[in-house]
Amino acid sequence: MSLKRPLAPGRWWQGVIYQVYPRSFQDSNGDGIGDLKGIIERADYFSWLGVDAVWFSPFFTSPMVDFGYDISNYLDIDPSFGTLDDFDQMVAALHARDIRVILDYVPNHTSDQHPWFIESRRSRENIKRDWYFWRDAGPNGGLPNNWQSLAGGSSWELDPHTGQFYCHTFLKEQCDLNWRNPAVRDAMHDVLRFWLERGVDGFRIDAVGCLAKDPALRDDPPNPDFRPGDPPFARNLMVNSANGKDIMEFVGGIRGVVDGYPGDPVLIGEVYLKTGEIGAYYGPELRGLHLPTNFNLLWTPWKAKPLLEVIGAYEAVLPRGAWPDWVIGNHDQPRIASRLGREQARIAMMLLLTLRGTPILYYGDELGLQNTEIPPGKLRDPFGLNMPGTGQGRDPERCPMPWDETPKAGFTTGDPWLPIAGDGPRSSVQFQRADKSSMLSMTRNLLALRRNEPVLSRGSWSPLPLEDEVLGYVRSLGKSRFAVLLNLENKAQRLSSTEITSGRLVFSTHERDRHAPVKQNLELAANEGVIIAL
Ligand code: GLC
Repeated sequence: MSLKRPLAPGRWWQGVIYQVYPRSFQDSNGDGIGDLKGIIERADYFSWLGVDAVWFSPFFTSPMVDFGYDISNYLDIDPSFGTLDDFDQMVAALHARDIRVILDYVPNHTSDQHPWFIESRRSRENIKRDWYFWRDAGPNGGLPNNWQSLAGGSSWELDPHTGQFYCHTFLKEQCDLNWRNPAVRDAMHDVLRFWLERGVDGFRIDAVGCLAKDPALRDDPPNPDFRPGDPPFARNLMVNSANGKDIMEFVGGIRGVVDGYPGDPVLIGEVYLKTGEIGAYYGPELRGLHLPTNFNLLWTPWKAKPLLEVIGAYEAVLPRGAWPDWVIGNHDQPRIASRLGREQARIAMMLLLTLRGTPILYYGDELGLQNTEIPPGKLRDPFGLNMPGTGQGRDPERCPMPWDETPKAGFTTGDPWLPIAGDGPRSSVQFQRADKSSMLSMTRNLLALRRNEPVLSRGSWSPLPLEDEVLGYVRSLGKSRFAVLLNLENKAQRLSSTEITSGRLVFSTHERDRHAPVKQNLELAANEGVIIAL
């Protein structure tokens, strides 16, 4: 399908990407679970909001033990979400609005119900045996090694039928594929082709670093920074169980497939790495991931100095020609508005949308949604249930989108699979659309500003060291120069810096006289962020 809008200068994936968790976006058939028809019903929302692409968490055939990240057929849609026909209609609906479609590609593991694994576990001699990691017990009948599952417990599960263990980096129902086997790579490349031929515009690659495990499956070393209360998997450093040296061969193979298709398909990769380590994932001569995800804002103390340092460090280590990206939320992380509070969540949004690179925006963060409290009997996420008390449960950030002011928030007519997110009617899209000062209105206005002012996405970034807790930086592109000043404190702060002596106020998180001239000693209100054209 051809897209009407000429491409903005640069590449389409340099725009804004919005993540949808399909179970929680819109239900169309009253079963309490979001679905593809529901997404079609809400297609106008994406263009109204002003995003360029939508990344969908998985909706493929799955026993749903990890709610779709355990896939039993990569080439079909799970009936709870709809059909391939619905999928085609959804792609058409989004493309008609110039919104690109990015799918979640889960290459590290299949469901234990996938025909490949069912074959593989049949016998030690099975032709698909080597598609997964099967190992004998370690010395004294123990586990093959000390690898820890990110979903709790060991990464090894004994299969009594053949007396060997198989490896699972996540749940025991998510069995790790052996990417060193060329037949596995071929089959998984075919998955990419299948969806590219159906018109998708790219993929977010799940747990990509896990594809490259140490060939000798050596133990992981202990983590010297492990603290009581940390999740059990943090006892070890994932040095041998992931991010092995040949990872870029696997990524390069995937890139080779998508590069064969028109429309500049994108590869986003889930990498939880520090700034210094991300660069490698762009690959030699940038033939790796287009956007290795950068989660560093989530880990950095919410203070001006460390934030400036981490942004600067990331900018400094990016390889030549690499395009940055930024994340402040996803389906695995506590909501930013719970971490920082509602007021600072607005500042975080302004930061996300005024840094150089692609912002990846998680559904509901534009409403300032906080973690939803889930009554104990209603918890669904097996990660949380397996590791109680460690904060690993992900239900609170996956709750259904509140669309309107009715009791079920317009999400469903049935019983929602998790409680509706938000604190009632005032959190909803309907309420916030009508309120000019809402988080939603602010986000939408910022997105429009970013679209109209290329300096905000493409301009160079330089820090503006300011006193106290004001995070400041300047973006420059040609003659255009914008200063962004974010008050990280809940108290007013007057800038004594001589850096900003004049300019024009372009944007504020607060009610302010837009276009008012800015003079020296500008005072920022508590929790206020401003953009000034210099
Ligand atoms: C990724 C996903 C997470 C999932 C896991 C296993 O980390 O983001 O939601 O549980 O991989 O697929």
